[in-house]
Amino acid sequence: MPDLSVSLGRLALRNPVLVASGTFGYAKEMVDFVDFSQLGGVIPKTVTQAPRAGNTPPRTVETASGMLNAIGLDNDGLEHFFTHHLPYLRTLPTVVIGNIAGKSEDEFVAMAKRVHESGQGLAGLELNLSCPNVSGGLDFATDPELTKRIVRRCRDVCPDIPLIAKLTPNVTDITLIAKASADGGADAVSAVNTFVGMAVDWKRGKPILGNVTGGLSGPAIKPLALRCVWRIAKLKALPVIGIGGIASLDDVMEFLVAGASAVQLGTVNFYDPTASVRIVKELPSALKTLGANSVKEVVGTLA
Ligand SMILES: Cc1cc2nc3c(=O)[nH]c(=O)nc-3n(C[C@H](O)[C@H](O)[C@H](O)COP(=O)(O)O)c2cc1C
Repeated sequence: MPDLSVSLGRLALRNPVLVASGTFGYAKEMVDFVDFSQLGGVIPKTVTQAPRAGNTPPRTVETASGMLNAIGLDNDGLEHFFTHHLPYLRTLPTVVIGNIAGKSEDEFVAMAKRVHESGQGLAGLELNLSCPNVSGGLDFATDPELTKRIVRRCRDVCPDIPLIAKLTPNVTDITLIAKASADGGADAVSAVNTFVGMAVDWKRGKPILGNVTGGLSGPAIKPLALRCVWRIAKLKALPVIGIGGIASLDDVMEFLVAGASAVQLGTVNFYDPTASVRIVKELPSALKTLGANSVKEVVGTLA
């Protein structure tokens, strides 16, 4: 049996297949479909400091080979996460990585501090620096200096939990933001969040989404995400978790070879919720095709 394990800085995973924030609820919703013990890890929906109602509906629309969403970080807040979701998440037979979004730099730091105090059971913390659907400047990862400062300050107040900076692709040069995350002390970056787009109902002369714009995800974005991951991996500054349209074994292998140390499956969880577990089962066959004995061996082998 080949070695499927990977490590992202200080974070060790039994295999490289994770499920992405916002596409897997708080895991309980998926228990009938997914054997959690087979997954590399689970990342529950982003939580914010205070509860948020999210954006005006409609919040999602299908596109060619993908979907647009503008959920707007609908969630019940960090303290509710600790009392209502974390006790269940702690019981899962896999790694659980929390995901937080602050409204400001200081709020990120305050939340990371609370995770340090009350986040027992979380193996890592993903900083959602990149939600495109929330007005008021939540898209922090468009600014390298700000990214570095937020990561560093979160690192300082939350020293024991591996930190992952989740990056937006809606920038001119994502490598600058990845480098800033590394300089701030992130254990890894995850790339990418959704691409900003929109959908129009021409007969009504109106945008389809209540928020007008939304984030594009699913197979449509895979080539774009792959390029982002490849460029960041070439920096050799820190491990990359690839995200974007991954739905099959081939997709996972493409991201690994392009330089991702692990991957997250997002939109596919909505239309094929067993994909993650199936891909984990299939991974050894792909390694065999390459004559490899471990996942680590194939990471970044693109010629
Ligand atoms: C409906 C929906 C909700 C999402 N909510 C979150 C979220 O709360 N936090 C986050 O970090 N990413 C969120 N994302 C982004 C995904 O985690 C992922 O980065 C993105 O969808 C690209 O991957 P995919 O093409 O495999 O879906 C969401 C995506 C979708 C489709």
